[in-house]
Amino acid sequence: MKQYVLIAALLPLLACSTAKTNPNIAEPTSSNSCQTPSTLKAAGECKGIMMGNVLRQQQIANVEHVALLAEEFNYLTPENATKWMHLQPERGVFDYGKADEIVNFAQKNKIKVKGHCLVWHSQLPQWVDDITDPDELKTVMETHIAQVMGHFKGRMYAWDVVNEAIKTDTDAGDGNPRMRKTVFQRLLGDEYIDMAFKMARKQDPDVKLYYNDYSIDANNDKADYLYEMLKGMVQRGVPIDGVGFQMHIGTPNNIATGAEVAKNMQRIADLGLEIIISEMDINLCGGRNEAWQQALYHDITLACAEQPACSAITFWGLNDGSSWLNSWEGAGCKTEKPMPLLFDNKYQKKQTYEEVINALTGREL
Ligand code: XIL
Repeated sequence: MKQYVLIAALLPLLACSTAKTNPNIAEPTSSNSCQTPSTLKAAGECKGIMMGNVLRQQQIANVEHVALLAEEFNYLTPENATKWMHLQPERGVFDYGKADEIVNFAQKNKIKVKGHCLVWHSQLPQWVDDITDPDELKTVMETHIAQVMGHFKGRMYAWDVVNEAIKTDTDAGDGNPRMRKTVFQRLLGDEYIDMAFKMARKQDPDVKLYYNDYSIDANNDKADYLYEMLKGMVQRGVPIDGVGFQMHIGTPNNIATGAEVAKNMQRIADLGLEIIISEMDINLCGGRNEAWQQALYHDITLACAEQPACSAITFWGLNDGSSWLNSWEGAGCKTEKPMPLLFDNKYQKKQTYEEVINALTGREL
């Protein structure tokens, strides 16, 4: 009898024994919460993984939406508000209003924030695209990074410094991998990436600095090209902390198995870099079914849970109705329903939610 009691008492501790050490995440207050966690963030804490979501400023007024967000998540990315077009729409005119509202909401709810993103070809104001002089562009880039990081200093846990610098012939990461011909690449060369990281590090020695991209999750040309790029950056001593796997899975982006994700994560971890899943959604476009989606949510979450260097999973939207894929032209899925997230339109948990929890707690599918 005594033996059973002892085993029962140890079980919750054993369940948490695989937890990674992440100094930024408090130890679970009750070890029982690792067996039957009541929220995603509780489940993530057992594995040293922050669980994240996104927020648009207009959503702050939606009480149901933000209550669920604060209940389930402990990491947040402004979906659009910290992009260049919103922060510096005109040269020298900085507008932090919407972003501040989001960051204030997060701080009030003890949620860490990742700024997204300092240098990106998209959602970039035309005035930057129109620059033709390299020195001028370098100054503009440095000013943007300095002003923006300065404004949010101490309130951001991390920044995506460069987003989506690599291009392939298909959006799924296949064919002719190369640097994307953005205004930054055209005027400053491939070195603009190193430059941006150095500029960012100069502003803040403590904040995490990430490179972020999509369709780097499967066995494909883009993932291999990324790996070589990162290897070079590490060898050159570029101040990069880690890589965000956007993890937009499904048409038109790549479809990766859990094993492929694990392999790509491992070789990046071997470079000494941290990994985050930064924009996860798995869409049903192209006739995919829910069983496939659920299994993949489980397997990809498990790849992160089993990788000591994987420190966060952020989902790109809270409920299916608010997914960016519903309106993104590129999804090629406008007449179908992408239904790519963990909660349905009524904010009810879907089976995808349960599979993420299962993967984090070690329960079988
Ligand atoms: C998307 C937002 O979700 C949309 O609201 C917006 O209209 C376009 O951008 N990769 C990224 C994100 O890095 O910033 C994109 O977010 C989705 C793809």
